[in-house]
Amino acid sequence: MQPVRWGILSTAKIGRTKVVPGMMKSSLCDIVAVSSRNEASAREMAGELGIRKAYGSYEALLADPDIEAIYNPLPNHLHVPMTLAAAAAGKHVLCEKPIAITSAEAEKLKEASSQVLIGEAFMVRHHPQWQHVRNLIRGDEIGELRALQVAFSYFNVDPLNIRNKADIGGGGLLDIGCYAVVAGRYFFDAEPLRVIALVDRDPAFGTDRMASALMDFGAGRQLTFTVSTQTVPFQRLQALGTRGRIEIEIPFNAPADKPVRIFVDDGTVHGGGSARATEFRMVDQYQLQGEAFSRAVRGAEPLAYGLDDAIQNLRILDALRRSEASAAWEAI
Ligand SMILES: NC(=O)c1ccc[n+]([C@@H]2O[C@H](COP(=O)([O-])OP(=O)(O)OC[C@H]3O[C@@H](n4cnc5c(N)ncnc54)[C@H](OP(=O)(O)O)[C@@H]3O)[C@@H](O)[C@H]2O)c1
Repeated sequence: MQPVRWGILSTAKIGRTKVVPGMMKSSLCDIVAVSSRNEASAREMAGELGIRKAYGSYEALLADPDIEAIYNPLPNHLHVPMTLAAAAAGKHVLCEKPIAITSAEAEKLKEASSQVLIGEAFMVRHHPQWQHVRNLIRGDEIGELRALQVAFSYFNVDPLNIRNKADIGGGGLLDIGCYAVVAGRYFFDAEPLRVIALVDRDPAFGTDRMASALMDFGAGRQLTFTVSTQTVPFQRLQALGTRGRIEIEIPFNAPADKPVRIFVDDGTVHGGGSARATEFRMVDQYQLQGEAFSRAVRGAEPLAYGLDDAIQNLRILDALRRSEASAAWEAI
């Protein structure tokens, strides 16, 4: 398979430090060019990573006929406008999560997605630990899965950080609550019917800095999560079944340079004494994500998660925000 020729929109930290280096490990991804609002920044990133071309505007990158696919890690409010611009230039787009700020905004991508591939960059679904845990659940390892508990937090009060700017799509629900939503849909293999949320907002930023929610997946299946932008860095996922429990130690930011672990526990010894650890060989989930998208561009396999999946994630995030306002259950 010929490698897909990629262009990178901006010098965003996640692209520079994780996603682009991950993709550069792969023979399926050729990173042709990077762009920035500031040409010096583009040159600096190109020099640092060994990328051939650097553009001083996003538009110049999109006009490069050599580029087939775009990785879009712009701030959330620019996901849809620049994905549309890339699609209009005939490029496929792997866009960072969340693909839009609302489901209504994401719907604007529908027409374009019939011309080019558009996918949302939830790298976690490409990690073998997620795939293994879902296989265990499907294989009845813990009986019937009844409850998922997700915690995801970090501490960031930098007023210049995009996460702390309400007007460009900041806040914890969009930044990390989206992972809890994706986890629920993935591990329950189902869609939530209704949600209720309790949200605390930063008085100065106006962004949600702590959000807890209950999601009803029907048939007695419940997901609870807490996400926060202003508590100690932590992440964990617990899956409680009728006969066992599975814990994913680092469910979202699995490092590429260390093995990660899950625990399967039949609960016979309190305190996790009966938990059996499974260790996963080191993989780079960003590399795997880039490879899956590249194979889809080449037609070697379908895009496992396309625009409809991304719109559904946002419908659930919309309902969580409606619930903040209504202080009541909101149907999806
Ligand atoms: N999948 C993951 O693991 C993961 C992790 C972190 C973040 N993300 C997602 O990736 C995206 C970027 O996050 P990040 O933390 O990497 O952000 P970041 O470092 O702040 O980068 C955003 C980039 O967008 C460009 N930009 C254009 N207009 C801007 C504006 N008005 N304000 C700020 N920047 C602007 C800037 O690039 P130039 O100056 O070069 O033009 C900037 O470097 C977000 O959507 C986030 O949700 C995903």
